[in-house]
Amino acid sequence: MELSIHNNCQGRDWGRVAQIMSHFGLSGAPPEDHKRAFENSYAVTFLYDGEILIGFGRAISDGVGQAAIYNIAVAPEYHGQGLGRLIIEDLLKHVSHCNVVLYTHPDKVEFYKHLGFRRMKTGMALYRDPDMLQEMGFIE
Ligand SMILES: CC(C)(COP(=O)(O)OP(=O)(O)OC[C@H]1O[C@@H](n2cnc3c(N)ncnc32)[C@H](O)[C@@H]1OP(=O)(O)O)[C@@H](O)C(=O)NCCC(=O)NCCS
Repeated sequence: MELSIHNNCQGRDWGRVAQIMSHFGLSGAPPEDHKRAFENSYAVTFLYDGEILIGFGRAISDGVGQAAIYNIAVAPEYHGQGLGRLIIEDLLKHVSHCNVVLYTHPDKVEFYKHLGFRRMKTGMALYRDPDMLQEMGFIE
């Protein structure tokens, strides 16, 4: 693997971002929405194998003490090689002064626990489609 890490949004293949997100059921948003979301984020991480985009993630932050991580994904054929950890650790470097929160699919809770995250006892969410999120196991 010819691995490289990029921390900016210039020249990214937003179609591939949308395709990977959609593959995992994380989002059905079109490429231009992902472009806007990543461009409006505080920190972004993109992983490439040569010219191929193989993983990404982003953090929003107030730049002072609070941050939240979103849209972590690694292309399926690259799973299990430490790349998910690499994306998280790279994002955390950019918000090292912050408390960091995230919410994830119920299947991935153990992954984040393994990386040092702890379950929040008072996390609250106001979702636009609470019935669907309840069905998926995200909220009570
Ligand atoms: C979650 C995801 C990013 C993990 O990527 P990955 O590159 O396969 O994970 P890594 O190889 O970096 O794993 C890092 C560590 O977590 C562990 N791990 C990976 N998946 C795990 C799981 N589901 N439960 C517990 N531990 C897990 C690995 O064993 C590894 O441990 P080690 O560093 O001690 O050897 C990847 O599965 C993915 O893209 N999933 C689909 C998208 C998604 O669900 N994203 C999260 C929603 S925000």
